[in-house]
Amino acid sequence: MKTAPNDAPIPLVLAADGPLRGTVTVPGDKSISHRSLMLGALAVGETVIDGLLEGEDVLATAGALRAMGAEINKTGNRWHVHGVGVGGLLQPETALDMGNSGTSTRLLMGLVASHPLTATFIGDASLSRRPMGRVIEPLSLMGASFAAAPGANARQCLPLTMTGLCPAVPLRYTLPVASAQVKSAILLAGLNTPGETTVIEPVATRDHSERMLAGFGATLRIETAAEGRVITLVGEAELRPQAIIVPGDPSSAAFPLVAALIVPGSEVTIANVGMNPTRAGLVKVLQAMGADISVVQPRTVGGEPVADLHVRHSPLTGIEVPPDDAPSMIDEYPILFVAAAFAQGTTVMRGLEELRVKESDRIAVMAAGLSACGVACTELDDGLRVTGSGGEPVAGGATVAANLDHRIAMSFAILGLHARTPVTVDDARPIATSFPDFLAMMQALGAR
Ligand code: S3P
Repeated sequence: MKTAPNDAPIPLVLAADGPLRGTVTVPGDKSISHRSLMLGALAVGETVIDGLLEGEDVLATAGALRAMGAEINKTGNRWHVHGVGVGGLLQPETALDMGNSGTSTRLLMGLVASHPLTATFIGDASLSRRPMGRVIEPLSLMGASFAAAPGANARQCLPLTMTGLCPAVPLRYTLPVASAQVKSAILLAGLNTPGETTVIEPVATRDHSERMLAGFGATLRIETAAEGRVITLVGEAELRPQAIIVPGDPSSAAFPLVAALIVPGSEVTIANVGMNPTRAGLVKVLQAMGADISVVQPRTVGGEPVADLHVRHSPLTGIEVPPDDAPSMIDEYPILFVAAAFAQGTTVMRGLEELRVKESDRIAVMAAGLSACGVACTELDDGLRVTGSGGEPVAGGATVAANLDHRIAMSFAILGLHARTPVTVDDARPIATSFPDFLAMMQALGAR
């Protein structure tokens, strides 16, 4: 990566002169990191966190919680959160800058919804395009009110100013989209709400909030009914501070995993990866495509399943990826599209409407970049069809636009590891939102 003035794009080209080899770890899970800070901020006393992801998204959450009264600091490698207690968040004095982070925005809106305070949420250009209606609707039913910036009313996008209601109104709500962020926003709002708040998810999404709420001592019931997974939280909870160990992020592990699969001769171990079944879809799908991935020493750390992943370069075969698997690997599709670009035959990935409202429209942006690099692919309304090279290098030779999207930037950097002509990612800066040490890790494996 070249140095450049602070506000200038930083182009990135990755290359491999030979096999990738070694053992690496990836940074802490982003979803778990956000939640550990938020629940720590609502517990009375000191929560300590090891392995917190120090990416920009999580730091945005920390900044907002500090602005609402929590004390958050780091000594050595450990983070300390001194919480204010459920109901104790304070009026922030300035707007809360969420940067690029949809998770920070939607979950913190849930927290604010049942506190008697007003907060303005702002974000970067990518976040300011993302839909907030999905949290505005349920949180309004609980009593929160929202005001958009002049001229932006219809869009339900940031910047938004919201005012919480205390006591808020308990809600029973069926999720219209499979979204752990929406589920979590409602449950977090329910913490300071009298009575029972219930979320019904017809399709299961990542369950880190439920696991961690139970760990902090909240009373939670989870039932499986005909309508789906029914999660009920008993309000006016008292949270007890915890010692949390954050496992490695499977969404970050996906990049060295696919890199090792596509670069001939590679053999890589990724240690300490979160294997929560609501997140582990990619490993299963890659194995179905023929990937040689061993899940080694499965164990439980801090209430979350963890394992080491041992992966060897493998010939891959195109498959139809079951759309039902989408929620368990929703953030991994950009790098799965890259794996598919090297498979023998065609991989069809559908049921991915949600990808269009992530940090970028990940279907359109990946289709454009893959086509520019000589990969045969067809954009579908709800997914992508990719015909792979059968293990041969792809043409490459293009400069692809990351569109302020960290996972797009990393995916195309990995594609370039097995291309005839280098692939340039136009701007590597978004990578810092989730994986500040991505380049150092790839270099440790032998990439250049
Ligand atoms: C997240 C949930 C997912 C995921 C995001 C993190 C979370 O979003 O894409 O990166 O931490 O709850 P949705 O729940 O909106 O699908």
